Amino acid sequence: MKVASLSELQEGVPVFFDYPQVGQGNILVKMGEPVIGGVGPDEDIVAFSRICTHMGCPISEYQHEYKALGPCVCHFTTFDLIHGGMVAMGQATQNLPQVILDIDGDAVMAGGLLRLVYGYDNAIEGGELVGGTL
Ligand code: FES
Repeated sequence: MKVASLSELQEGVPVFFDYPQVGQGNILVKMGEPVIGGVGPDEDIVAFSRICTHMGCPISEYQHEYKALGPCVCHFTTFDLIHGGMVAMGQATQNLPQVILDIDGDAVMAGGLLRLVYGYDNAIEGGELVGGTL
């Protein structure tokens, strides 16, 4: 599924998209330096679920200065997007699920998620649900 256009991305300007289903929010950012799982010519484009791994609140605040998602409005967890979405501070104990990205021409494509999204008991592969129920 196309989630962004490579030519339109700007460093530090987040793109928000739902994937794999409406209501499952994610954030995509061109970080400006190579990062874990980064795609694109500079290996700096990453995307993560923005559903907090603590108790499922949506996180909308991105701080490019710290390359961090958060703080979560519920209990203030902040996640480090340079280091695979790991918890930088706060109540959560698990990393954010990372969206598997690929580049197809000018399209940035999402093709799955690493780790389970809070509140869901299945993972997806190739954009399709695999096992379990919602
Ligand atoms: S739900 Fe995000 S820190 Fe608790």
